[in-house]
Amino acid sequence: MEKKDLVIRIAGEGGEGVISTGDFIAAACARAGQEVYTFKTFPAEIKGGYAMYQVRTSLDPLFNQGDTFDILCAFNGEAYEVNRHRLVPGTAFVYDYPAGDFEPEIPDGVIAYPIPMSQTAKDMKSYRSKNMVALGALSALFNINEKTLIEVLIDKFKSKGPENLSFNLEAFHKGKELAAALGKKDLWRVADPVPAKDVLIISGNDAVGLGAILGGIRFYSAYPITPATEIAKFVAVHIPKVMGTLIQAEDEIASISQVLGASYAGKRAMTATSGPGLSLMGEMLGMASMSETPVLVVDVQRGGPGTGMPTKHEQSDLFLAIHGSHGDAPRIVMAVEDVGDCIHMTVEALNLAEHYQCPVILLSDGSLAFSTQTVPAPKPGAVKIVERKRWDGTGEYKRYQASPDGISPMADPGTPQGMHVATGLEHGPAGAPNHSPPNHEAMHRKRFGKLKTVVDFVAPTQVDGEGQADVGIIAWGSTIGVVREAVARLRADGIKVKGFYPKLMYPMPVAHYEAFAATCNKILVPEVNFQGQLSHFIRAETAIMPISMTICGGVPFTPIQIMNKVREIL
Ligand code: COA
Repeated sequence: MEKKDLVIRIAGEGGEGVISTGDFIAAACARAGQEVYTFKTFPAEIKGGYAMYQVRTSLDPLFNQGDTFDILCAFNGEAYEVNRHRLVPGTAFVYDYPAGDFEPEIPDGVIAYPIPMSQTAKDMKSYRSKNMVALGALSALFNINEKTLIEVLIDKFKSKGPENLSFNLEAFHKGKELAAALGKKDLWRVADPVPAKDVLIISGNDAVGLGAILGGIRFYSAYPITPATEIAKFVAVHIPKVMGTLIQAEDEIASISQVLGASYAGKRAMTATSGPGLSLMGEMLGMASMSETPVLVVDVQRGGPGTGMPTKHEQSDLFLAIHGSHGDAPRIVMAVEDVGDCIHMTVEALNLAEHYQCPVILLSDGSLAFSTQTVPAPKPGAVKIVERKRWDGTGEYKRYQASPDGISPMADPGTPQGMHVATGLEHGPAGAPNHSPPNHEAMHRKRFGKLKTVVDFVAPTQVDGEGQADVGIIAWGSTIGVVREAVARLRADGIKVKGFYPKLMYPMPVAHYEAFAATCNKILVPEVNFQGQLSHFIRAETAIMPISMTICGGVPFTPIQIMNKVREIL
């Protein structure tokens, strides 16, 4: 198969500047007009432990970080050991030698480039610059655009002092010279620069923050937690520009409570957290359901349960997102596919919360949080903002007055004649506590009934492919991007396969699922969690009996894994 894209994996020890090296390559390629999709994984510790950054770059659209790498750059022996089984004929292998901490065996057919990264940095008495020596070598060997790389290095290091910058630029050029002395022996190269498109290269977390600002939030409260914290860091910089407020609360219970208060006061408000924080928010999510208060909670999923694996990928909060409250507590649950969705679905999730006056949980995940992708720059003027239904001031005001669509107008505090209680107690139409059986039944029908139209409010579930298929693959979250490529490659091999990519996870668009399943002989549901959480809901809510495929090693699927499973089924 002709390879139209290039995958570079950089690996080494946390603290050696692996992540920055990957970020520089990704930014330089994007500035040279390339499509970029990156993935990184690193230890929970600040120093030490295996850190890895993978950059995939192409002139064509990219949907995932790829099956494996074409080029491996190993900063240390662990990086070699962890990845050596992927050093297949044709791959290029750049490694720290001599004076690195290892002497690798070079498998047949692997093109080796020993670069004295540590030694060079040591000779320069600038140990931090080891990664810049590597970067210079990679740039020279694989046509990574030097001009845009230097721009990115200056942007990053100018704030760390002129000496730091000059050392790093010197190390970069030394790396180039060392690589040039070895001579190029492989065919891998990044495509030459093309006119840069109007794109952003942005991480999933920054994209959620951008969507929040474009989506009109005026209040944000959160407690720092990996891998969600960068959302608050982004919002903190930009929310003052729209006269909004950000608070770092003392914990997640406080943060969601403050968000509810701000929403009750009439402001578009949200928080972001990860699994442990969403667990703590359960009671106040129920308060939002009961009091019909708009609130958006972004959950950037990580390895669970408990403290789990804070910096590792998983999509294992679906059970919690859909049912994580006591009682029958309605909410809307959406899941993003990629960094572009992180922008646009955050806007949509805020609109849903405001329109349906309920909690909305938007699920992102660890691989997306830290993945940077090139996405078309959003046009602020094109962003559609849906406001909450507000009382028009006529007649007697009853906060929970029955209405045809179940959605009752809200009145900001201080509205004349609009005074009311938004209570967590079961209540009647006027908001006064009411525990009578018929009222509780009626209010449940109201709170759940208003969500019947959500499936029409959001875009229809995307089906990838037509006609009858031997296998239909239902994927959600960032696994969708992997399945898109697997479906395309399987079809190219003549296999009749289709994809179904739900973004609205709850209320579940059952009709869409069943219509899709009717056109497939078998249904496969790959997901990165242990229990097969979406498969569980599919069995519970539909007549479909899916084949569940689960992995939970803290990293995403690769297209080849999905393709092999489909072939096994057939
Ligand atoms: N010269 C000077 N500074 C350099 C450099 C160079 N040549 N190369 C990198 N650096 C700086 C980076 O700018 C970065 O500093 P910054 O954070 O101020 O920007 C720092 O060194 C780390 O480098 P980076 O490349 O970002 O990461 P790394 O590959 O060295 O790995 C991490 C370190 C990412 C693993 C670690 O910093 C980290 O974040 N660990 C996880 C913490 C966490 O989230 N734990 C979970 C708790 S629940």
